[in-house]
Amino acid sequence: MRSRRMNGPGEPGYACGVSGNPLAPAWLKAPADPNELAAGVWSQNAIRAADGVIEIAGVRATELAATYGTPLYVVDEADVRSRAAEAKAAFDAAMEGIGTSAKVYYAGKAFLSTEVVRWIDAAGLGVDVASEGELAVALAGGIDPARIGVHGNNKSERQIARAVEAGVGAIVIDSALEVERVASAAARAGRVQRVRLRINSGVHASTHEYLATAHEDQKFGVTIADAPGIVAAIRSLPGLAFIGLHSHIGSQIFEAHGFAEAARRLLSLHASLLDGGPVPELNLGGGFGIAYTSADDPMPIPEIAAGMAAALAAAAGELGIEVPVIAVEPGRSIVGPAGTTLYAVGTVKAVTVETDSGPAVRKYVSVDGGMSDNVRPALYRADYSARIASRVSADHPALARVAGMHCESGDIVVRDEYLPMDVGPGDLLAVPATGAYGWAMASNYNWVPRPPVVAVRGGEARLIVRGETIEDLLARDAGRIAP
Ligand code: LLP
Repeated sequence: MRSRRMNGPGEPGYACGVSGNPLAPAWLKAPADPNELAAGVWSQNAIRAADGVIEIAGVRATELAATYGTPLYVVDEADVRSRAAEAKAAFDAAMEGIGTSAKVYYAGKAFLSTEVVRWIDAAGLGVDVASEGELAVALAGGIDPARIGVHGNNKSERQIARAVEAGVGAIVIDSALEVERVASAAARAGRVQRVRLRINSGVHASTHEYLATAHEDQKFGVTIADAPGIVAAIRSLPGLAFIGLHSHIGSQIFEAHGFAEAARRLLSLHASLLDGGPVPELNLGGGFGIAYTSADDPMPIPEIAAGMAAALAAAAGELGIEVPVIAVEPGRSIVGPAGTTLYAVGTVKAVTVETDSGPAVRKYVSVDGGMSDNVRPALYRADYSARIASRVSADHPALARVAGMHCESGDIVVRDEYLPMDVGPGDLLAVPATGAYGWAMASNYNWVPRPPVVAVRGGEARLIVRGETIEDLLARDAGRIAP
């Protein structure tokens, strides 16, 4: 059974670990070998070299750290490219199988840089953007604007104007108010703008509360009941071309039934709109889950695509309509597994905690980054895993918590993991599956410069986003005294 585990102390399912350390959550099994890179969690080209150093796409972690410093985001380029190509192939095949075709957009919010735009472009995907900045990066990456989709529940007038002027393929209208705004931007630019309408389908994705975006009580989209009136308004405006409905039910989703249910609801609404004119497409969003730890068992993309296609074909059959062109927007599942963050271990403490079954020890391993380069553990209580990257150890597994260097106790990098007992200062630590929403959500908390991003491929490393320096940050401080 596929599982998404988020139990913590005091929550159901939190119990003694098998190793006997009562501080370990139930899902975390003590590994036979705490040096092992769990299958499905690490990027495709991550291995342990003969001398024990982790190598990603033929580049040694020790070399990366020496050249670029730590913390460092490392992206396995071939992994991103192949996940993008696989997603496209999976949806193309599934939708062809039900007599239609697919459009796959990469949700750039997961991680966007001009280099990533080029990889995505080369794999034949479009790019979704959710701000003026993301639009600028997508355009700077050289992708055909017709393959860009624009999102946002509160797009600025300027953002809408820029998107229309650039000739983006679709703007996803998120409210009744936006209809007029996009129409006037189109009129000013002398263009006809293709638009979708985002629907709050009411489907609840089974995931962390903060990540579920299709609840009734949330800010995105319009209700199914309001949609026909808004679509009629769109259709009445000559500067707008209605191309279909949109729905995104949440993120890091492991079960197919949420997508199938959203597909059924949306298709039924879609069918009711056909009397008023053509509705060529239906966009079902992204949200496909990935493995952050060996306890996560995400559904392979071809299975998701097949499940969606089956639900669509069945619903279309019942409604007596043809299945439209189906668009999807995966972000995390394209870049998440391809990213690894390297940190240097600074201090280590053994902290004894009193539990019902007596005292237990948790090893706090502090590294040189934290919530400024990955806020997900603090924000969503997201779990990650970790390994020593600079060597293998023959020592036994000890329950550890990888903590950051910020002045906040919630600054956790990996809440629960077994690391070799002798982990200590001088070790490099690698945290896998950090490619999505890590760099993208990084901050300068505590005036910490954001780390660089390096792409590795075929034994070569290339800087794709320069890291910040304290000088960069100070340069923006308007009140500083010149040296
Ligand atoms: N399409 C729309 C309209 C979205 O809002 C999102 C994500 C996606 C596609 C892509 O979802 P993905 O395939 O990446 O799950 N910061 C959170 C995730 C927020 C996702 C927001 N929307 C996290 O770190 O888990």
